[in-house]
Formats: sequence, structure tokens, C-alpha cells
Amino acid sequence: MTADRGKKSTHLVTGAGGFFASHLVKRLVAEEYSVLAWDVVPWEEASRLHDLPAAQLHYEQIDVGDASSVARHFPTGTDVVWHFAANADIPAGATQTALDVRHGLAPTQQILEAMRKSKGTRLVFPSSSAVYGIEEPHRRSEVDGPFLPVSLYGAAKVGCEALISAYCHCFGLSAVILRFGNLLGGSMRRGILHDFIAKLRENDAELTVLGSGQQRKSYVLVDDCVDASWLLSQHRAGRAGCEVYNVAAGGTLSVLQIAELVTSEMGLVGVPVRPAGDGTSWVGDQPVIDLDITKLLALGWRPRHSPEQAVRVATRRLLEQGGSS
Ligand SMILES: NC(=O)c1ccc[n+]([C@@H]2O[C@H](COP(=O)([O-])OP(=O)(O)OC[C@H]3O[C@@H](n4cnc5c(N)ncnc54)[C@H](O)[C@@H]3O)[C@@H](O)[C@H]2O)c1
Repeated sequence: MTADRGKKSTHLVTGAGGFFASHLVKRLVAEEYSVLAWDVVPWEEASRLHDLPAAQLHYEQIDVGDASSVARHFPTGTDVVWHFAANADIPAGATQTALDVRHGLAPTQQILEAMRKSKGTRLVFPSSSAVYGIEEPHRRSEVDGPFLPVSLYGAAKVGCEALISAYCHCFGLSAVILRFGNLLGGSMRRGILHDFIAKLRENDAELTVLGSGQQRKSYVLVDDCVDASWLLSQHRAGRAGCEVYNVAAGGTLSVLQIAELVTSEMGLVGVPVRPAGDGTSWVGDQPVIDLDITKLLALGWRPRHSPEQAVRVATRRLLEQGGSS
């Protein structure tokens, strides 16, 4: 993470208190970049950032869905906007149907509008494998359509990507869209590892998994994902227009394979794993997510952790933190 150092670029990170963005903020601060961190939650609740020296981080409680607030506070002279604020809880969209537009699509337009007016800023946007939906073939490269998402979260991400593309084309903005696989790491307060650890802590005589257990997806350790995101943000520097990259560690892991890795990391042997159903895990889930990362690998990036290693490392971190932090 060194290419911009001579210039000491300035960075705005939205959703900074969240899982991914807090890892990114820590890396940017460690490299002595100037970071403005926005999140809708007050500083007291942004606990993932509390171990950072206060002098190195400027934190503001901003709702990026509020157009006037974004317009008023958007900093001039920012080099990179990492727009990571969103609802990231995919199943929640099926019951709270306004969530992904309110916290995903609308904020992205507010940010693009502010960027259009301030000029010179490039955008890094985390999209998702959710844009690909459930159509076959399951293995998808960046150019493989159609994009027919099956969750409101995925629909909002498709909408965000479309807005970013159009703003770049119409107003000369620069952006990179990162279609992340499933992120893994410590301090992730939801998701498959968090769920398995909590269940096994309560009862280690068996583990019930959602769906058939055969669902298989692309994963990546958050550390590797930060590296790839940084590389791609640098790759786009000085170029107008937008480009899309899949970001994952390559290959897939099934729910049953993950169950085995987590029980092994917890020192448990022979725990029977019981599928709760015969299909997917929730309304809007995709049975297979298999991201083709050829385009990213062509830039020379390599994940430092395989999907199996990512599960093991993330499980250990969650266990060290008590599994629920
Ligand atoms: N976690 C994954 O596996 C994954 C995969 C693909 C893409 N992504 C994307 O990466 C980004 C970060 O995901 P995460 O897992 O770290 O989620 P997270 O929920 O931990 O972080 C999201 C942060 O955004 C903030 N936020 C939400 N609405 C906001 C608003 N209106 N204004 C300001 N802040 C707001 C939340 O308070 C939270 O701190 C999201 O855009 C998500 O869609 C995540």
C-alpha cells in the first residue's frame, strides 16, 4: 500500500465503522494517509475504530442517504472516496423492503452527485457477487450477464453500478467497482462463521446448518480484500471511466466444508452436521457463487490466503475475540 505516498493522498471512507471499512481505515491510517471517516452511527458505537489514535482520524457522524448533509459536508480536495456505507445484511431486505434503496442505492447517488460537483475524486465502490443472481453458468466473470439479482440487496448493487457507470460516462468521473465474494475476518458480527461459532458454543453436540449445506460460494479474507482494493484503486488513478473487477480468493467452499473447518478450529471432533432444509439458506440466497478472478490475477495480485486458510484464520480471530464482538 505505497504507490500514493509521495503525494499523501486524502481519503474519504463512508461506512467507516463497519467490518470491511474499519480494516481499510486502519491500513490507511497506518500508512499515514489523511482519512475522513463517515458513518451513520455515533463515534461511541464505532467500536471497531476505537483503538486508533484519535489524532490520526477525523470521524464524522453522517447519514449518506441525506442529500443535504452529504452536499454540505463533502470535503473538497479528496483524492479517493471509498463508498462502503450500505445495508450489508442481505436477508434483512426481504422483510425491510426499503432498506437497500435507503442505505444502498440512494446514498450512492448522493456521493456521485457530490463527486460530480467537486471534481478530481476517484471512487472505489464495493459491489457484490449478488448482482449475478442464480442463472447458470454459476461461474461468472465480470462481463457475463444477464444481471438478474434475486435479493433486494443485489438489485440495489446493480442499480449502484449502473449509476456509477452513467455518472462516469456523463461527467468524466473515475471509478472502480469491486464485486466482492463473501468476506471473512475477525469483528464480523454476522455471517456463516459467526453463526456456526455461536451455535457450537451453545451446543457442541451437533451443528444445524441453513439449507442443504451444499450451497457453495467464493470467499476471501478481509486482509487480502483490502490489498486487492488498494491495488485496484491505484490502478484506476488518473483514468476517467469505470471498470469492474471480481474480488475473491478463487474457487468455492460449501457450507458443509466450512462446518468441518470451523469445528476443527474449535477443537471439536465428530460433530454431526444437520442440514435444516433441502435448498438455499434464506429468501434471496444464491445456491452457488463462483467468481472468476482471472481479470484481477492478470494485474499480478495474489491472495495470501486460500479460501480454507481464510476460514481458519477468521475463525481463530473470532474465537480470540469471544466470537460475538
Ligand atoms: N461483507 C461482505 O461479505 C460483503 C460482500 C460484498 C460486498 N460488501 C459490501 O461492502 C460494504 C461493507 O460491508 P460490511 O460487511 O463491512 O458491512 P457493515 O454492515 O459491517 O458496514 C456497513 C457500515 O455502513 C454504515 N451505514 C449504513 N447505512 C449508512 C448510511 N445511510 N450512512 C452512513 N453510514 C451507513 C453502517 O453503520 C456500517 O458501519 C457494503 O457496501 C457491502 O454491501 C460486503
